[in-house]
Amino acid sequence: MLTLISNIKSLIQTRSENVLRVNGLNMKYLPQIDDAYLIVENGLIHSFGKMSELPMLQFAETFDASDRLILPTWIDSHTHLVYAASREQEFVDRINGLSYAEIAAKGGGILNSARKMADADEQQLYEAAAARLEQLIALGTGAIEIKSGYGLSTAAELKMLRVIRSLKENYPRIPIKASFLAAHAFPLEYRENHQGYIDLIINEMLPQVAGEGLADYMDAFCEEGFFSVAETEQLLEAGWKYGLKPKIHANQLHRSGGVQVGVKHDAVSVDHLESMGQEELDCLRESHTIPTLLPGAAFFLGMHYQPARMMIDADLPVCLASDLNPGTCPSGNMNLLLTIACTQLKMTPEEAVNAQTINAAAAMELEESMGSITVGKKASLIITKPVPSLAYLPYAYGENLIEKVIV
Ligand code: NIG
Ligand code: FE
Repeated sequence: MLTLISNIKSLIQTRSENVLRVNGLNMKYLPQIDDAYLIVENGLIHSFGKMSELPMLQFAETFDASDRLILPTWIDSHTHLVYAASREQEFVDRINGLSYAEIAAKGGGILNSARKMADADEQQLYEAAAARLEQLIALGTGAIEIKSGYGLSTAAELKMLRVIRSLKENYPRIPIKASFLAAHAFPLEYRENHQGYIDLIINEMLPQVAGEGLADYMDAFCEEGFFSVAETEQLLEAGWKYGLKPKIHANQLHRSGGVQVGVKHDAVSVDHLESMGQEELDCLRESHTIPTLLPGAAFFLGMHYQPARMMIDADLPVCLASDLNPGTCPSGNMNLLLTIACTQLKMTPEEAVNAQTINAAAAMELEESMGSITVGKKASLIITKPVPSLAYLPYAYGENLIEKVIV
């Protein structure tokens, strides 16, 4: 059964199947076809091209997309979508002068979310997460990575991961990947016994997580005051024994060594990257690891932004993700992220779209099936309202310019 979308003002991010990520200067280039058609067959992209070359086929359905842009859906490769409660009091505390690290040190932050998670009912957690996911899909997100990490105990980490598994089962059209992030913070009772908690993760949690097939990736928050490089290293090695590739939090607050340890252990991505230097750039350039920027957190915390231009100049395949979480980035809106990337990271609209589509697909290992308009890939599409140009999307921030999302 063929569906035709005709008269598309511009079909954006059209690629041949051998382009699986774009780096450096290539990120400036966002291929598009004006006055285009797109044919979908059984949920996959069948063909596309200029309207003047539309093949004579029998279509079961036809949509007219005059004046509208079509893009591949956003891919959000880093979220903490499952959580038990919002944390707006910490937001107010920060306005009144406390820093994120100070709030964390006095038991707020991640530990605050962990206390709420311990008592949370799995069904309610699921319903809240599903409602958030549906909002995000309506905002154009077509694939999403979700982390555990507010459990910090075996029972609560497993509870979070089972919620993610239920989301996978109930939203089969949205590829979902789960990351196991018990190493998000040290629970209070392990503050003075780091090795005790690491042993718990490695010897008790990991075997169950892997045994039930609950995670795709191994995550850790490699940061001063959280998990050291040596501690991160133990965790990543243990994850690999169960086939969990690393995808880690690195260099948010300091040049923590997180990038180097991630690359050393073949991380799919290293995420955050507010604090970067030449050594980190060189190490990433020689790797297959995707540098993922989370400027939504820097925006919300009022902290310095990731040096995106420096990374693009260093020829890296930069990715953008939301970091949706109740503490440092309560929004998973990738349209707003596009504007933040343009205005604060000085990325061009084309670079930012590449970072949120094709490179984001690579950051979730979905590059063979998503991230671009390519024959055979999933027809996971954003259809905009009538807009004058692509740059209008980040320009007219705060306006919802999405007319329809097809997943
Ligand atoms: O990615 N950086 C560490 N973890 C989260 C924040 C978690 C929280 O404060 O709840 C992040 O920003
Ligand atoms: Fe995060």
